[in-house]
Amino acid sequence: MNAFPTVQTALITGASSGIGATYARRLAARGYNLLLVARNEARLRLLADELTARHDIQIDILAADLEQHGEIERVANRLRNDQQISLLVNCAGVALNGSLAEADIDSTHSLLQLNLLALTMLSSAAAVRFSLAGRGAIINIGSVVALLPERFNAIYAASKAYVLSLSQTLHAELSSRGVQVQVVLPGITRTEIFERSGSSLAQIPPSMVMEVEDLVDAALHGFDQGELVTIPSLPDGDDWHAVTQARMQLAPNLSRNQPAARYH
Ligand SMILES: NC(=O)c1ccc[n+]([C@@H]2O[C@H](COP(=O)([O-])OP(=O)(O)OC[C@H]3O[C@@H](n4cnc5c(N)ncnc54)[C@H](OP(=O)(O)O)[C@@H]3O)[C@@H](O)[C@H]2O)c1
Repeated sequence: MNAFPTVQTALITGASSGIGATYARRLAARGYNLLLVARNEARLRLLADELTARHDIQIDILAADLEQHGEIERVANRLRNDQQISLLVNCAGVALNGSLAEADIDSTHSLLQLNLLALTMLSSAAAVRFSLAGRGAIINIGSVVALLPERFNAIYAASKAYVLSLSQTLHAELSSRGVQVQVVLPGITRTEIFERSGSSLAQIPPSMVMEVEDLVDAALHGFDQGELVTIPSLPDGDDWHAVTQARMQLAPNLSRNQPAARYH
């Protein structure tokens, strides 16, 4: 078994802006060393300079385009080989507007590469090493759109449903091996994602928009409590537990040797 060193490193994808950059600030304040990943190297360097000036930590940056298979592999290799890394935050993601019928093939491909493939390959690399060590954690940034697919763009919502499902399975596979998994489902959060996807927050009622610092602080609170699914906006956590219970009640009847009577 590989022992983790006392000072741990968090690898954060999508660290150049928004939720990922805020995780970097909060984890730096908690004393983590950081490995920051995104495409924009200049922004990562600025953030690294800001945080090393403020905290006694080490920060490394890895500029990578996680839509490219070889680049995903480069980051996954770092996860496989760098024994200091004990926390993976999969935050890099893009959104897409419009219906499936209107979707541009190249943008669709990019979204699937980043939101699904990169997150899966990095989670897999982390899962292997963390479970061998018997310690470590994976935080995946999903979205509440996973719970309301009828109301959002099909491709983005489906990608976030995948993140939720993958994280639930990962938790089932890894919790007994000492590896913590959390999936965070943010609602609308003030970041650059809207401008990047050609939309805007202007039409959205302010009561529905969370500030990114509040989102990440709440998510880390859920992480500290060992939550699997954290929905920062949801006032009553029992509402989510009721959904999970209702789903589990279906379990004994989901695979039987006869069709249900209503289909005879
Ligand atoms: N904001 C919201 O309302 C909201 C709600 C629910 C879920 N989320 C999720 O939160 C996560 C973070 O989004 P955000 O809101 O913080 O948006 P953001 O400010 O646009 O940040 C996206 C991050 O992903 C990185 N990224 C984009 N394409 C990349 C690529 N090809 N390779 C590597 N990194 C790439 C960006 O960095 P570079 O451009 O430097 O590569 C940036 O650091 C996403 O997964 C998003 O789906 C956001």
